Amino acid sequence: MPLPEYGNQRLTSEKIQMGLKTRWLGKKKVYCFYEVDSTNIVAKRLALEGAPSGTIVISEAQRKGRGRMARFWLSPKGDGLYFSLILRPDIIQERGQLITFATAVALASSLKERGIDSRIKWPNDILIQERKVAGILMEVSADRNRTAIIVVGVGINVNTSIEAFPPSLRDSVTSLSLNIGRPLSRIRVFQDFLTHFEFWYEVLISERFEDILRAWRGFSSTLGTRVNVTLQEGIISGLAEGIDSQGALLLRDDEGRQHRIIAGDVIHCRPSS
Ligand code: BTN
Repeated sequence: MPLPEYGNQRLTSEKIQMGLKTRWLGKKKVYCFYEVDSTNIVAKRLALEGAPSGTIVISEAQRKGRGRMARFWLSPKGDGLYFSLILRPDIIQERGQLITFATAVALASSLKERGIDSRIKWPNDILIQERKVAGILMEVSADRNRTAIIVVGVGINVNTSIEAFPPSLRDSVTSLSLNIGRPLSRIRVFQDFLTHFEFWYEVLISERFEDILRAWRGFSSTLGTRVNVTLQEGIISGLAEGIDSQGALLLRDDEGRQHRIIAGDVIHCRPSS
């Protein structure tokens, strides 16, 4: 039954698939929900039941949206895009992390096409003017034949108002509509992202890893800046010098030692700090 509060804005698989310019992504099945705990959880279940690569799970809201480092992803209904892509790549192993890099590049380049200048904070936060507008959570599992199943979950604050966020987050988050000053069609934003994602995913599976890393560097707001990185064993400060072929962050500390960081939480230091 149509939900009156959304009218034409409500997400449906028909609207998403109509005019979708991809070749395989979202062409077979798009599962659209009103509310779920987490689209990543639903996508993993569907993948284990045999859903093919390119299947999409999207929801108007999430009760337990999950972020990196066991954080919560705020998912108010009707305002944002909360979705997961099911992928079954043949290559993966040590370059698997690059899927999140390809996703971040796809997001930043789809926004650039609409004139929105976003940047990527290592490893894969999408920022506009240093405020987070989107995040990516990749989860890997294996089916009963031991073939890898990748679920790439993406949350984008599209028309989210600042009041929807808790006061403690309001200085560090934003939405696309807050940035451009008018609401956007979530369907168009989603379709554009899917087109860009399909392109960058094919770059990845054709093993053109350096192309992804080069594009990622071009959008990076982390490289060349001083950062504090929170790791399990403490905080390291220094200059973010680069990323290596697997996407690890290369940081030079104040004693001149280089650190290779695989996972951590980065804070960009502002010039005055
Ligand atoms: C992060 O920046 O910490 C990652 C956030 C990822 C959020 C998305 S929303 C859709 C998908 N389902 C989830 O539970 N999480 C991801």
